[in-house]
Order: sequence, then C-alpha cells, then structure tokens
Amino acid sequence: MKYSVPINIDFDSAGMLDIYQKHIGTLVDNPKNIKHNPNFINAYTSYLINATEYKWPIENIVDEFDIDVDTIKVFVTKPNKKLFLHRDKVANKQELRQWAINIPILNGEVGYNEWFEDDVNDFGNEKIVHGGVATMPQGLHDDYICTESCAITGVTLLRTDIMHRARNDTDKTRVVLSIRGNPKVTWNDILEKVNEFNQSTGNSSGS
Ligand SMILES: [Fe+2]
Repeated sequence: MKYSVPINIDFDSAGMLDIYQKHIGTLVDNPKNIKHNPNFINAYTSYLINATEYKWPIENIVDEFDIDVDTIKVFVTKPNKKLFLHRDKVANKQELRQWAINIPILNGEVGYNEWFEDDVNDFGNEKIVHGGVATMPQGLHDDYICTESCAITGVTLLRTDIMHRARNDTDKTRVVLSIRGNPKVTWNDILEKVNEFNQSTGNSSGS
C-alpha cells in the first residue's frame, strides 16, 4: 500500500480507551457540552478534537520512532458518515502535513481511510478550512476516484498530504487517535524508520 503502512508495534488499547472515556467520550455523548469547547471542531459528520494535553499511553511508539510530537488529535466519525475530503495542513503555515500515525480507540476496524490521487481527480481550486488545518476540493461532488483504502486495526502510518477522508458505513461510532510529529520530518523520513522497524520485527506486510 502506498499511503498506509501497518506498524508492527503493541499499543495499550485499554489505557487509550480509559483516557478517551474520561476526557472526551462523555462530551461526545452529550453534544450540548461541545458547543463552546475550544478543543472541538464540529465537522458535522465528525468531531476533530485537539487532545494533545492528555497523558496517552503512547510512549513506546513515540520513543521507537523518535517522534517530536507536534499535536495529538482524536477523530470521531459518527455512524454512517464520512469526513469531507481533505489534505492536512500545518496550522498557520502554508505547508501540508505529510504524515500521521493513527491508533484505533473504538471500532477502528469498522470504517476506512480512503485516498484520492491527483493524477485521476480534479480537485479545482482548493480552499483552506477549519482554521487552517486542512484544504478541501472546490467541488463537493462524490464521483472522485478512490485509489487506496485501509481500516485502522492497529498502529498505522498514514500519508496525509494526498487527498483523503475517513468513512464509516456502520451503526457504530468510530474513534481514532492521531499522532502528528514535527513537520520537518518528511513522509520519506518516517516511512524509512517504519519499514526498518517492521523488517526488524519480522513483519513488513502492507508496504
Ligand atoms: Fe486528514
């Protein structure tokens, strides 16, 4: 797969769910509380949540790949919804964000991340949305051609500067944690580290 690479590393599933439920899940279940919370972007089909301040049990992943954490996000995709197509941007900068490492918190396997390449799609004049953290296509039609899709069943390196979205075709809410590192580290830099790690642990599947 070109844009998604499973990482053969353990993660503390129960610990992640604990933190999610304590700080975020109760808010998601009661949307009245979200309205004026500055950490929440309500993207209608999804909530994009700034969750950098919480003590997520991700030290082993951060240490292994020497990640200088920039932000940590939680993405909640509502049942039977898909997030708008977008590319990730570094907030307050022109540059795109090239990668993220995502970890499933709840029902990661029930949805998909999908990628749409520039070669076969025309996204028109892209516009910057949600306070500068993403760009999206000029048109919102739904006949763009999807090149790759993957479920988030474990720790996964994702490419985020190619047009993409999360989709959830099920009746369950899907929740994923997303670690964003220093944008000076390129997709190729992190991909090399992940491939080396996967080879050293005897699992290079998916790449
Ligand atoms: Fe994204």
